[in-house]
Amino acid sequence: MGSKALLEKLERKNKEAMEAGGTDRIQKQHEAGKLTARERIDTLLDKNSFVEAGRFKTHLSSDFGMELQKIPGDGVVTGHGLIHGRTVFVFAQDFTVFGGSLSFAHAEKICKVMKTAMKVGAPVIGLCDSGGARIQSGVMSLAGYADIFLLNVMASGVIPQITAIMGPSAGGAVYSPALTDWIFMVEKTSHMFITGPEVIKAVTRETVTKEELGGAMAHNEKSGVAHFASPDDETCLHQIRELMTFLPRNNMEDPPVMETKDDPMRRDESLRNAVPADPNIPYDIREIIRSNVDDHYFFEVHELWAKNIVVGFGRLDGMPVGVIANQPNVMAGCLDINASVKGARFVRFCDAFNIPLIIYEDVPGFLPGIHQEHGGIIRNGAKLIYAFCEATVPRITVITRKAYGGAYIVMSSKHIRGDVNIAYPTAEIAVMGAEGAVNIICREEISKAADPDAERKRLIENYRETFSNPYKAAELGYIDDVIDPADTRPKMIQALRMLRTKRDINPPKKHANMPL
Ligand code: HXC
Repeated sequence: MGSKALLEKLERKNKEAMEAGGTDRIQKQHEAGKLTARERIDTLLDKNSFVEAGRFKTHLSSDFGMELQKIPGDGVVTGHGLIHGRTVFVFAQDFTVFGGSLSFAHAEKICKVMKTAMKVGAPVIGLCDSGGARIQSGVMSLAGYADIFLLNVMASGVIPQITAIMGPSAGGAVYSPALTDWIFMVEKTSHMFITGPEVIKAVTRETVTKEELGGAMAHNEKSGVAHFASPDDETCLHQIRELMTFLPRNNMEDPPVMETKDDPMRRDESLRNAVPADPNIPYDIREIIRSNVDDHYFFEVHELWAKNIVVGFGRLDGMPVGVIANQPNVMAGCLDINASVKGARFVRFCDAFNIPLIIYEDVPGFLPGIHQEHGGIIRNGAKLIYAFCEATVPRITVITRKAYGGAYIVMSSKHIRGDVNIAYPTAEIAVMGAEGAVNIICREEISKAADPDAERKRLIENYRETFSNPYKAAELGYIDDVIDPADTRPKMIQALRMLRTKRDINPPKKHANMPL
């Protein structure tokens, strides 16, 4: 065959691969409001940067007439490309080919991408749109999933792993996304569940729609499985690009510094009134966070779940930071089971990937209640303590108001290796709030007083004066400084610059035993 004929053959084969499941199925995909796998990759990556590998790979099944149904690529497009000029690896399941279902060959392609990504130290982004294990492949498809799970775990903490659910994701297949760091979902078109509505109906007699059970909102608001919800594919893919700007490519690298025109010494006098003097009045901690980060830009993650704790990324002096903050606007900022889990997972991600932590603290304590106790607030609250205790990245804490009891210790106090701990003059660092404390320790005094109400008031005032302030803790060195809130940004940046070369270690061990 001459070179012309060889090139024609190549062209023909490439065309066949591009057509994937055929124009009808592509049209169906578009009608469902979804992009195709290749369109998704093109939207995700920098223009023309995608380099495909495995375009011609096919499955080896021969049951159910599968030997006659071979489509190049076998339902997943794999390769690497650039996001903001930095290498990432990507796989996108193609629902037009056998419903994006996973054969052993399909799994091999995903594994190859993951192994190469680990070798070169670059993130993996998986775009999932799949009917699950390919039924015709039998147990080999299960072996394929197992290989992926294993690599997910091996890659955890080495390279960032990101999953976008952009179609169905059911059965055991959901566990690969669950083993990754971040899960994005698209509203209305994506679903995740272990067992679908029909099985649930048969087993528990409960009636539920697919959307209620495992749609984007179910997992963003109720289960906390997903971290982001987007109205459509394009927005989802742009959100992933945005997240990537805060992350290093691997655990050996620092996160990428982005130059900013925002003055590192910028003060904000409005912060002097941001925290209400009355400890019972709530406020939105995100206003303080936004005021202090570069260009007032805060990229909140896991926004719709456990809203009593706020987590997300921002930059200070160009340097990415992870922000974790009690939210006085929701449940007074109390730490409950979900907030502890959300916070712990975020702290561990940042620590694994060298992203310094900024902590804003205004927390009256752990949430009381039978539901919380029996739900395991002890075990789950311990996760947050654990995560902070083990974190070795730079940690800067600002106590804006309440820092009571165990919650004071948890939120990166000096005692658990917080590096720089500062407080606003409104800070109350004590075992508990004034009213609760007086009711317990002065019960007798109050009951014997001629005017018990007046006496209670006087004692509360006295307690506030003595304990509900930052100065007792500052005298003991538990707080490095009490600052004018207007200076928060410059103070944080000074601390961050000082801590840039921080090194700290944990004792060598096989692995720790986190209270899961
Ligand atoms: C082979 C599959 C498939 C599968 C879908 N298809 N799922 N082929 N194996 N698992 C094919 C269909 O035959 C169809 O082919 C095409 O994909 C599109 O599917 P439709 O049903 O027409 O699409 P839609 O109506 O949108 O429904 C999508 C769906 C449904 C909800 C995903 O197809 C479905 O329920 N599929 C089965 C899901 C499932 O039970 N999977 C196994 C889960 S167990 P044609 O040729 O008509 O286009 C599992 C175990 C993993 O995954 C364990 C890991 C540890």
